[in-house]
Amino acid sequence: MGHPSGGGVIDFTSEDFWSGTRRPLDQATGLPPVAYTGDDFFEVEQHRLFARSWVAVASASEVAEPGRLLVRSVGGTSVLITRDRDGVLRGFINSCRHRGTELTSEDCTVSRMIRCPYHRWGYALDGSLVASPLFDEVPRADFDPAELSLLPVRAETWGLDVFVCLDEATPPLAEWLGDLPERMAGYGFDGWVAHQKCTFDVAANWKLITENFQEYYHLAWVHPELAKVSRVRDHYRYQGPGLYCGQTTTPVSSDERDDWLVLPNAPGLDSSDSVSGRFVAVFPNLTLAVLPGHAFVIRLEPLSSGTTREHCTLLLPSSTPAEQYGDAAAETLKFWIEINNEDIDICERSHRGLALGGAPPGPLSPRFEEPLHRFQNMVADCMTANSLADGLRIPPGDGPDAGPRYGCGPNPALPSIDARRWSATG
Ligand code: FES
Ligand SMILES: [Fe+2]
Repeated sequence: MGHPSGGGVIDFTSEDFWSGTRRPLDQATGLPPVAYTGDDFFEVEQHRLFARSWVAVASASEVAEPGRLLVRSVGGTSVLITRDRDGVLRGFINSCRHRGTELTSEDCTVSRMIRCPYHRWGYALDGSLVASPLFDEVPRADFDPAELSLLPVRAETWGLDVFVCLDEATPPLAEWLGDLPERMAGYGFDGWVAHQKCTFDVAANWKLITENFQEYYHLAWVHPELAKVSRVRDHYRYQGPGLYCGQTTTPVSSDERDDWLVLPNAPGLDSSDSVSGRFVAVFPNLTLAVLPGHAFVIRLEPLSSGTTREHCTLLLPSSTPAEQYGDAAAETLKFWIEINNEDIDICERSHRGLALGGAPPGPLSPRFEEPLHRFQNMVADCMTANSLADGLRIPPGDGPDAGPRYGCGPNPALPSIDARRWSATG
C-alpha cells in the first residue's frame, strides 16, 4: 500500500493502479512516478516481483567450479548458489538449520563443506547436513540430520547467466525464457568466457535502466557516437514468445567506427547472427548486448527505490585468440563503458524528474516503445497476480505483419527463427 501526497492509500496490487499500462499500446501511458520513486512500491515489488521471478544473479562462469559459493540477495532473501561435486548447480537459503545464522557473507570457495561459523554445523554441497559437532554428547531422540538439510532454492543456468527463483509455483525457467534459448542458440554461449567485470551504482530505479535499454528512441540524442554504428534505421524488433524484450541492429555497420567489431566472430554464426547486434532485456533484471564477437551483459541489482547496482561483464567466445584479450577487448570495453555512462546520466536525470517533479505518465510511442509496454505489462502481471503459476502472461512474439512499428521495413537478414516461425504461420 502507498500513501500519495493527496492522502488516501494506493493499492499497487489492484488492477486499478495499472489501468494506463493495460490499455492497448496506442492508448497506453508509462508507469506512474510512484512506481519508480516510492519506497512502499519498492517493498511490495520486492515481494511480489523479485521474490517470485526467475532473477539473474551471476555470470555462469562465476560458479563453473564445484565448491564455488556465491551469496546474493533476491527479493530481500539471502541466497547461496554453488555447484556440487557432481557438477549440479544448487541454490539454498543462506540460513543455518540450527539457529538460523547466516552461513557466509561473501563469495568464496569451500573445499567440501559449507560450515556455519557459529557452532560449526557442516553441510555438503548438495545441502545435506553432514556435521554437527558435539551435538550427540547428550543425544536427542528426534534429531534426524536428513530433515535438517539447507532449504533449497530453484537455480538454473541459461546461456551466459545463472537464475534463481524463490517461488515453487512459478513456471520453469524454460517457459519463462520462451523461444530465447532457441533464438540465440547459434552463439554457443556455453563456451563464452567472462573477460572483464565492473560495477556501477546508479541513482535511478532499476526499471528506468532496463526501459532505457529497451528503446532506441533516444539513440541519436543520448549516444551520437553509438548511432554511427547502430543506426536508427537499421533497428528491428527481435521478440518471440517469452518474458523478454528485444531489438536487433542489422547490419551493424563499421564504416565510421569499428570499436565494437574489432573482436573476431564466434564460430559458426549464421548469415543473420554474423551481421547483427542483439539487444535483449530478459525480465526482470538482465540486459544482453550480443555482437558477433563479444557480449556486454548488465545485471541489475535493485538496492532501493532510487539506487541500482549495475554488474557489467564483457564476455568473449572461447575461440577468441588470447592475443586479442589485450587491446581489442580493452577497446571494446571502453566503447561500452562510454555508452553506459551516457545511459546512466540520462537514467539518473529521468529519476530526478520523477522524484522531484513527478509529472503524470505520458503516452508511449507506438513506433519505438512497444517493448516498454510489453515489459510494463509483465511488471503489472507480477504485482497483481496472486500466483505466477497462472497470473503471468507470456507475451506472444512479433508476427510478420505489423509494419513500421517493427522497424524500418523488412529486416534484410531476418533471424532464422523468425523466418521459420513466420513462414509456418503463413
Ligand atoms: S547456528 Fe549454525 S551451527 Fe549453530
Ligand atoms: Fe542508451
